[in-house]
Amino acid sequence: MPADLSPIDKAKFVAARRAVALVEDGMKLGLGTGSTAAWMVRCLAERVREEGLRVTGVPTSSRTADLARQLGIRITSLDDAKWLDLTIDGADEFDANLNLIKGGGGALLQEKIVATASDQMVVITDAAKEVVALGAFPLPIEVIPFGWQTTRTLVEETLGSLDVLGREVTLRMNGERAFVTDEGNYILDLHLGRIGNPRQLSLIVNQIPGVVENGLFIDICDIVVVGHGDGRVDVRDINAGTVSHDRVEFAETENVFRDLGD
Ligand code: A5P
Repeated sequence: MPADLSPIDKAKFVAARRAVALVEDGMKLGLGTGSTAAWMVRCLAERVREEGLRVTGVPTSSRTADLARQLGIRITSLDDAKWLDLTIDGADEFDANLNLIKGGGGALLQEKIVATASDQMVVITDAAKEVVALGAFPLPIEVIPFGWQTTRTLVEETLGSLDVLGREVTLRMNGERAFVTDEGNYILDLHLGRIGNPRQLSLIVNQIPGVVENGLFIDICDIVVVGHGDGRVDVRDINAGTVSHDRVEFAETENVFRDLGD
């Protein structure tokens, strides 16, 4: 492993490499978005190149689509693939039940659709993202631009009746302008501190007109692969109720590091 990778990047890499070992020939895969998912795309591309693995990927963002294309992974749309064997994606937070907050990169809508259309969702992460209660990471919700300020007011009012610590709602920005998702929508970040009942909050927030989707992934993730900077990985399987430990070995000369720069 190159010495100049930070411990967090090393942790993300080993989690990605371990998750990609679950991929079998002929699979249809959901390809997540974010810095950890980008490692997964690189590791997958390496297997495609070196083992002749035949897979078809459905990317969850234009960024991931560009990277997959650039690295020679065959991609298609979800409508063409219809149903997927496995989705591998990152997360911003996960709890003991493998419920997640996602959307830090703004791709939560496609990520949720793709993960839900998969037999299995595997999340790859470093240990710092594990929490006792979700909510320290601001919860992203995707809203349509029309009337977004009214939508924000309704969200703020709704939070008043929910079990959360904080209630600040901010519009995600990209410089001077509102951040715009791949679907042309805006993101509101909900600074909740702690979410007492994520399932209830998810259902209620999605009832508000103008809200397209929220970044809570409840009962969607099957396995979390936690990477550590020294090469150790923990694999937590919520359905089997098991935690297994493994180690990913790597060499500095690996091809996967040649295209660094994402
Ligand atoms: C993208 O919208 C997100 O859901 C990402 O999967 C999540 O933010 C994790 O990103 P990193 O791997 O970059 O931390």
